Amino acid sequence: MCMSRKTTISLIKCDIGSLAGHHVVPKLLLDIGEKNLRMAKEKGLINSYYVFNVGDDMELLMVHEKGESNPQIHQLAWDTFQAAAQKAMQLKLYGAGQDLLKNAFSGNIRGLGPGVAEMEIEERASDPIIVFAADKTSAGSFNLPLFRIFADPMNTAGLVIDPNMAGGFNFEVTDTQEGKSIVLKCPEEMYELIALIGTVERYVISRVWRARDNLICAAGSATRLSLIAGKYVGKDDPVMIVRAQHGLPAVGEILAPFMHSYLVAGWMRGSHWGPLMPVGIKDARCTLFDGPPRLVALGLQIADGAIASDDEGKPLIADMFADPAFDMARQEALQYASMMRRMGEFEPARLSVESMEYTTLPMILEKLKDRFKPIQG
Ligand code: F6R
Ligand code: MG
Ligand code: MG
Repeated sequence: MCMSRKTTISLIKCDIGSLAGHHVVPKLLLDIGEKNLRMAKEKGLINSYYVFNVGDDMELLMVHEKGESNPQIHQLAWDTFQAAAQKAMQLKLYGAGQDLLKNAFSGNIRGLGPGVAEMEIEERASDPIIVFAADKTSAGSFNLPLFRIFADPMNTAGLVIDPNMAGGFNFEVTDTQEGKSIVLKCPEEMYELIALIGTVERYVISRVWRARDNLICAAGSATRLSLIAGKYVGKDDPVMIVRAQHGLPAVGEILAPFMHSYLVAGWMRGSHWGPLMPVGIKDARCTLFDGPPRLVALGLQIADGAIASDDEGKPLIADMFADPAFDMARQEALQYASMMRRMGEFEPARLSVESMEYTTLPMILEKLKDRFKPIQG
């Protein structure tokens, strides 16, 4: 095997319509994804794929050798989402074509609605990858776990005891409001990093590299659909790719931050703080108050430009949160959900007024505007 082989992992997701409100993508739509990607594999455009859903989002995981932002790969995803949306429209499924915000494809799917996480890697002798996909939340919800994984020595033992991690990690933070990014180095600039990424609705960790050799370690989606569409059109249910082991955080260190639930922006109408619930694929379906926000983690190995697969070419995929080790986080999520819902529409259960700008709330305020009278005396 050639050690410097370049392989790209593309995880592209889209809400193309779902069954019974914003609940799940039915199998017949996933089958359209499966068929399109199988054909692309047969033509040699991609080497491996895995189609799944997290709640109402269809997720296309593709491994190929065409690099990041490749027009053919993005076109494949765009056409697949279009085909699935067409079927969803015929069936009058809910929110059919919801995330396909633009009519025409122009070479790159970024900015057209779907969420994208992509990473080109130079294959190591063995390259374990964890891909994360969430529903009913936004990209900033990965800030806390990414910080824990790559900067917190109380989470990642390797930061303390593995000499290959000495020197720390560089974090690219995207300012989703201004469309700018900055790179900060940990541990040296840890406090500045936290100052930014604690503002989860604005600053999003978009990439992480190992500082000593610039090895790419993590890539996430950092879009805000509302800023593209100018109004609330669903949350930017985020996706993320993380590389593991051998001088990087171990798989167990990558999963450790999810031992506990924590509050993320999203949930009902993209307008509430809700607890993130790590689940196996079979439970990746939002119900209670359109949630709680769900998170799936899939483990795979990259091998010779593809996902390590069985003899029939079926990719070997590990469903990391389908494990009793995350029962406590799931229980906590329910407890937090009950606590937050007791507060109904009162902040901080509901998002701050700035975040509500792109929801339907301003329409209500507009209606009342002229009835406000100046205070006398
Ligand atoms: C959240 C989400 C749902 C909807 C809610 C209302 O991301 O998609 O919580 O916002 O179900 O949906 P509409 O306005 O389509 O009835
Ligand atoms: Mg939807
Ligand atoms: Mg969704």
